[in-house]
Amino acid sequence: SSRMAQFKLVLLGESAVGKSSLVHRFVKNQFDEFRESTIGAAFLTQTISLDDDTIIKFEIWDTAGQERYKSLAPMYYRNANCAVVVYDITQSESLERAKAWVKELQRQANENIIITLAGNKLDLEQNREVPTEEAEAYAKEAGLLFFETSAKTGVNVTEIFTEIAKKLPIE
Ligand code: GTP
Ligand code: MG
Repeated sequence: SSRMAQFKLVLLGESAVGKSSLVHRFVKNQFDEFRESTIGAAFLTQTISLDDDTIIKFEIWDTAGQERYKSLAPMYYRNANCAVVVYDITQSESLERAKAWVKELQRQANENIIITLAGNKLDLEQNREVPTEEAEAYAKEAGLLFFETSAKTGVNVTEIFTEIAKKLPIE
């Protein structure tokens, strides 16, 4: 017999780091070089099954990273079971923005929220500004799951959601 559980997930991070691209890779297995910047937020769902026959349904809020939408974020992270905070490995400033989101989540979101830090655009290694070890050390210290991903190639995208699913409390 299989068990089913659903969880609310929110994506946060600076504009253009690839939040929508990660979600589209996960939900539709597609990548778009010319994706338009998100307005407000987008809602998508995807289910995954774990080895133990548990089916997890993610209800995903893909938020808009542009500054003018910043005040909307609490609406989406309130009640979220998990958050994926995204930065771009080729823009060190985007990691600073990600750290600010993590701080805000740790202060204002659900006490048991599972937070993942995702360094996206791993396919652009030649333009890297954020060393893996630096982000990894920060993630460890802050108690976050950590992945480097590429929405373009698909590297580590499903893995993020699978690792989160394994950590979620299922009755
Ligand atoms: P907002 O909606 O404005 O917050 O941006 P976003 O974080 O959703 O970024 P989006 O997914 O729209 O991606 C921004 C740009 O980066 C697009 O042109 C994408 O094609 C590109 N992009 C996203 N992920 C990757 C990636 O892994 N590799 C490369 N090379 N480009 C990517
Ligand atoms: Mg977007």
